Amino acid sequence: MSSRPLLTLIAAVSADGFISTGKGVPWHLPCDQEHFRHITRGQWLLIGRTTYEEMVGWFQDHHPLVLTRDNSFKPAVGQAVSSVPEALRIAAEGGAQELFVCGGSGAYAAAIPSADRLVLTHVASNLYKGVPFPTFEPAEWERVSRQDFPADLTHPHALAFATYERRSTTKKLTGSPL
Ligand SMILES: NC(=O)c1ccc[n+]([C@@H]2O[C@H](COP(=O)([O-])OP(=O)(O)OC[C@H]3O[C@@H](n4cnc5c(N)ncnc54)[C@H](OP(=O)(O)O)[C@@H]3O)[C@@H](O)[C@H]2O)c1
Repeated sequence: MSSRPLLTLIAAVSADGFISTGKGVPWHLPCDQEHFRHITRGQWLLIGRTTYEEMVGWFQDHHPLVLTRDNSFKPAVGQAVSSVPEALRIAAEGGAQELFVCGGSGAYAAAIPSADRLVLTHVASNLYKGVPFPTFEPAEWERVSRQDFPADLTHPHALAFATYERRSTTKKLTGSPL
């Protein structure tokens, strides 16, 4: 097993690779909101300062760590961190098994080089421009689950929940020989 918490990015991503047009999550997809709430309930979260400010008021039993370069920033809930390793250290000291990176683009970009899992909602819609999800090398990741949902009266776009594990992490999690 890993000696630090697993590092998981959780994001909703358009078919052309964006997470936002610039302000807020651009889709109203109740089933994705419930999926996000369910997975992150009670968990340690790493959130970029911009997204944190959009989400203030949302945190309940979560442990938010806010990524910022501003040493004077004091979040109303949770605590500020200046790097992903610092966030992992604090989460580990708090007993976390997993740290969920909840965006935005800056936080995902900082975390993806050390990420173990990607929990992605693939939204069947193009945004054409906006705030990107970082590019990643598909060969390094194994898709371990995928659930598809068609568009319906409350979901204007089809979507899929997919989980990917970094191949080296999959070996560690399953105990397969290296
Ligand atoms: N679709 C989705 O799943 C999803 C999820 C979350 C967010 N979003 C969207 O993403 C957008 C925000 O993304 P964003 O990239 O602009 O902002 P962000 O990642 O939420 O926050 C950016 C801030 O985080 C801090 N930061 C970033 N990288 C850092 C690093 N390496 N070290 C230390 N601090 C660092 C800096 O804070 P300081 O300026 O304080 O130094 C930076 O200004 C919003 O539109 C939001 O709605 C979408």
